[in-house]
Amino acid sequence: MGHSGAVWDQRAAIEISKDWNGIDQILLRSPRGGSARVSLHGGQVISWRNDKGEELLFTSAKAIFKPPKAIRGGIPICFPQFGNCGSLEQHGFARNKMWVIEENPPPLPPNDSNGKAFIDLLLKPSEEDLKGWPHSFEFRLRVSLAANGDLSMISRVRNINGKPFTYSFAYHTYLSVSDISEVRIEGLETLDYLDNLCQKERFTEQGDAITFESEVDRVYLSTPNVIAVLDHEKKRTFVIKKEGLPDVVVWNPWDKKSKAMADFGDEEYKYMLCVDGAAIEKPITIKPGEEWTGRLELSVVPSSYCSEYFDPHQRGF
Ligand code: BG6
Repeated sequence: MGHSGAVWDQRAAIEISKDWNGIDQILLRSPRGGSARVSLHGGQVISWRNDKGEELLFTSAKAIFKPPKAIRGGIPICFPQFGNCGSLEQHGFARNKMWVIEENPPPLPPNDSNGKAFIDLLLKPSEEDLKGWPHSFEFRLRVSLAANGDLSMISRVRNINGKPFTYSFAYHTYLSVSDISEVRIEGLETLDYLDNLCQKERFTEQGDAITFESEVDRVYLSTPNVIAVLDHEKKRTFVIKKEGLPDVVVWNPWDKKSKAMADFGDEEYKYMLCVDGAAIEKPITIKPGEEWTGRLELSVVPSSYCSEYFDPHQRGF
């Protein structure tokens, strides 16, 4: 593959091609065989594979890979709103737009580049976007794949407007799971959450890890920077680290809602779980010239290893 020698060739780890709709996709490869695929449609990660080539993200078999619909699966970017209020479309417009590759973005710390395959994308509002949301911004997204297969995403939103503006945000992460009834989330116990199934009423989670036996649509508040999603059947654990993203959305549509979604299979809810690093309860306000950064890092570890690895009180990065 051209990158297996002693010196890893960072450029050879990136390949740009077109999907069947003519939209550019970027493939990132790690030296050990992991990969990530990013579409310019939505700036969306649509695949993340481990060293064995196993897919780690869920994408619906009925997903529509064509704007103006967001792709059902992978990691859609929800911006400038999460949810559905006011005149903006549900989860904002960023996931439905065509992003561009940015050759020379403002620099990031060396740790975000060294030894990683990465791509930098940029979204600026169109005339049409400005009509619906009259704020000038530059949204920079870096997607990187580390040598060990970890996937990270860095979002930088800069205000180039004359006035402050406010938004909410989420990395709407569709994890692929073997069987939803065998999955549990650790790190959200005893926290408060807003329940989207009860008009956003606030509840407090019990002391146990979260498991699934019906529809769930919640925003957990003031969450730790590290969350673990354990897949008992696959004996593997997703470790989600985040920074700048206080909330965590947990969503599974279950059977009834699955049937109501045109781009989602009736039984697919069994094989996915959305766990999103997000900033929702307290929307973010940035002043003219200011920039906000929100980071997400996903890794997969064998579940047996998890208890040593996972400490919900550690810093995300
Ligand atoms: C979840 C929301 O994150 O996204 C749900 O909490 C919503 O309420 C779901 O149904 C899917 O949204 P969409 O717009 O991608 O169909």
